[in-house]
Amino acid sequence: MKPDYSKYDYLVEEATYPDNSYHEFIVSLVDDLGPVRYLEVGAYKGSTLFYVLESNPMIKACVVDDFQISTHEELIDNIEKFGFLDRVNVLLGTDRGWLEYAMDKFKPDFVHLDADHSTEGLLFELNTVTQAESVPSVILVHDWIDPCVQAAVQDFARKNRNWQFTVNEDIFNGAAVFREKSK
Ligand SMILES: C[S@@+](CC[C@H](N)C(=O)[O-])C[C@H]1O[C@@H](n2cnc3c(N)ncnc32)[C@H](O)[C@@H]1O
Repeated sequence: MKPDYSKYDYLVEEATYPDNSYHEFIVSLVDDLGPVRYLEVGAYKGSTLFYVLESNPMIKACVVDDFQISTHEELIDNIEKFGFLDRVNVLLGTDRGWLEYAMDKFKPDFVHLDADHSTEGLLFELNTVTQAESVPSVILVHDWIDPCVQAAVQDFARKNRNWQFTVNEDIFNGAAVFREKSK
């Protein structure tokens, strides 16, 4: 039976996604991997996070957010409201402060980057994630539409030939998906 995602519709609207295409795309990628350990950098109020958790009860998540445009309490309240307290770890702070720690301790199979959209910031994230001892199977970068994001993705790919990316422009704002060549 397909999970019921309709309870998250209002969060999708609040996050100004025009539709659920982005969430459904992520869930399809996660589904291909099975019960993943999911790390989202930039979770905001949790709309995408809840889609992923709802899709498979075996999934565990960790999120990093410095809450510049929402609050830590809002996300925790939402996590509690939807019954996911025991499946999510929230790290309050920046990618610079937490990403290396999250990679080291949580060892995610799937990383979703949707925080710092500057070229330099995203390059820091991609380098940190791929230099971890245990690298993820999939790294998804949101907002391909943003020239700073495209520059970071292309620069990283040029310098790291073992990581290949594909682009999906059919979903909201587009996304790049990195996979290591041998995987
Ligand atoms: C576009 S929103 C994320 C939307 C979310 N992924 C979703 O699907 O609803 C970006 C989030 O990243 C956070 N953020 C931006 N730069 C960050 C950084 N350098 N470190 C941690 N969080 C950051 C912002 O506070 C914001 O909550």
